[in-house]
Amino acid sequence: MHRTHTCGELRLTDAGTTVTLSGWVQRTRDLGGLTFVDLRDRYGITQLGFNMERDQALCEQARQLGREFVVQATGMVKERESKNTHIPTGEIEIIATELKVLNRAKTPPFTIEEDTDGGEELRMKYRYLDLRRPNVRRHLELRHRMAIAVRNYLSGQGFLEVETPVLIKSTPEGARDFVVPSRMSQGEFYALPQSPQTFKQLLMVSGFDRYFQLVKCFRDEDLRADRQPEFTQIDCEMAFVEQEDVLNTFEGLAKHLFHAVLDLEIQGPFPRMTFNEAMRDYGSDKPDLRFGMKFHELNDLAQGKGFKVFDEAELVVGITAEGCAGWSRKQTDALIEFVKRPQIGASGIVFVRWTEEGLKSTVDKFFSPDQVQAWAERSGMRQGDLLCIMAGKPDKTRKQLNELRLHMGDLLGLRDPKVFKPLWVVDFPLLEHDPESGRWHAMHHPFTAPKPEDADRLESDPGSVMANAYDLVINGTEIGGGSIRIHEREMQERMFRVLGFSDADARYKFGFLLDAFEYGAPPHGGCAFGFDRWVALFGHRTDIREFIAFPKNNAGRDVMIDAPSRIDAEQLKELGITASS
Ligand code: AMO
Repeated sequence: MHRTHTCGELRLTDAGTTVTLSGWVQRTRDLGGLTFVDLRDRYGITQLGFNMERDQALCEQARQLGREFVVQATGMVKERESKNTHIPTGEIEIIATELKVLNRAKTPPFTIEEDTDGGEELRMKYRYLDLRRPNVRRHLELRHRMAIAVRNYLSGQGFLEVETPVLIKSTPEGARDFVVPSRMSQGEFYALPQSPQTFKQLLMVSGFDRYFQLVKCFRDEDLRADRQPEFTQIDCEMAFVEQEDVLNTFEGLAKHLFHAVLDLEIQGPFPRMTFNEAMRDYGSDKPDLRFGMKFHELNDLAQGKGFKVFDEAELVVGITAEGCAGWSRKQTDALIEFVKRPQIGASGIVFVRWTEEGLKSTVDKFFSPDQVQAWAERSGMRQGDLLCIMAGKPDKTRKQLNELRLHMGDLLGLRDPKVFKPLWVVDFPLLEHDPESGRWHAMHHPFTAPKPEDADRLESDPGSVMANAYDLVINGTEIGGGSIRIHEREMQERMFRVLGFSDADARYKFGFLLDAFEYGAPPHGGCAFGFDRWVALFGHRTDIREFIAFPKNNAGRDVMIDAPSRIDAEQLKELGITASS
């Protein structure tokens, strides 16, 4: 038998018992006559004690142990003289009588403790060692608990988990496809699913009524902290539903997860905001509601007074930072530097401070005190506050002010990762216009239905058509999104046409779906949640890689297995592919 107990379970009540433990050597401490070894496994750390007087040979053997050696030790549980209150096993130690090295280990390239000296690249190269660190392990434990809670809840609501294929045809979700060459049909390719969108709709046609799947999705897109090329969705679809049914069901799921995983009760229904309201008030379709600083438009109050920057702008808009009137010049200059960074690209900020001496703006020579007073009133300012105003083209300026708002939220400590503010953003436009290609794109995906009352304007005024599409946003992160779908062939064909597909192209790519809609497709809708993002959010972090066992780096590489990699000429030949280099 390798062990009688784990390294996390022995307590004072076990004193006097003879036990055998197996695990990794976290560290050895040689105190002359005494040597202590911290033995670690998934469950915790237990101290092994060796005594020169009691057993010199054994003690010397213990002194030779290197970090991360795999050992087995037998001995008696004893109350410790100096207790460690930081760990659950800290009241006891094992007085070892036998010690066996099960496997030696090279010195690890970084310390395997909560805080490590290993940089990101090194930790990812040796990810199997990084995963021994308790904090990384806890992230995966959280992921496991959430997956169980999701399955329990949805299964309890009558959802069936159905697996869908991975080698498929392109599903447009707005990214590039990863493709897999076919050996049996040379010159042809499978695409990996960007999501199982069309399959879950087909399952509704099949009468499954309520489907879900914790499923891998693949998207070849530029990576960020909250994006991986392969990621996991909680993918769901329901038949015979309207938007309200979907929102209620998944608000239930969200509340269940908050309760089951974090022991948090979210009171009342989640707030709802239309896409237009979100853009107007926060400059983002995923507003972070942990703090205020709503946008206030000032065009009518700020234009026509001779200040060119405002006069030439289509939008003049500000946010009020509470209690920041006393910020130094250095601090406000740093804000200007922040918005001038190329990623944001703004030209500057106009500030108004309301101190004990009254209102003072950086554009006092253009505006009278009364005029500045009117801005302050519009912006909900009080004494002690700082108003930050930006001006320019509407979409761009809103985005820039959104960046400033989030940055100030960070600076002011208003974005506490332990506070959760969920909301639904609803009423997205069906389509967005791409000025470069001159084409219309589906804002969500091409299977989203127009609102019935807008459908007749699909061809004549596509930009005005709204969709029953919705996103779940928590703390400024898009956790999930979905829509009510098209379920009639004719409407789907119209949609494809508006998106610029020829009828032949639409049939080639999506003929199976169009056909299915002719065999009794029920009205349906659904959504999908980014599981990695949701786990990271519950783990109070923003980088989803920390919650994925074997993630890819920012260049889409797995540096541990060194993938992607070349394949040999023989394999290429079999696939009918000619190597270019
Ligand atoms: P969507 O494309 O909005 O919808 O994706 C759903 C959710 O998946 C997460 N997500 C990602 N997470 C990590 N890395 C990525 N690269 C990544 N891309 C997306 C986000 C997002 O909200 N089929 C539709 C859903 C539906 O209509 O039912 C879909 O995939 O949290």
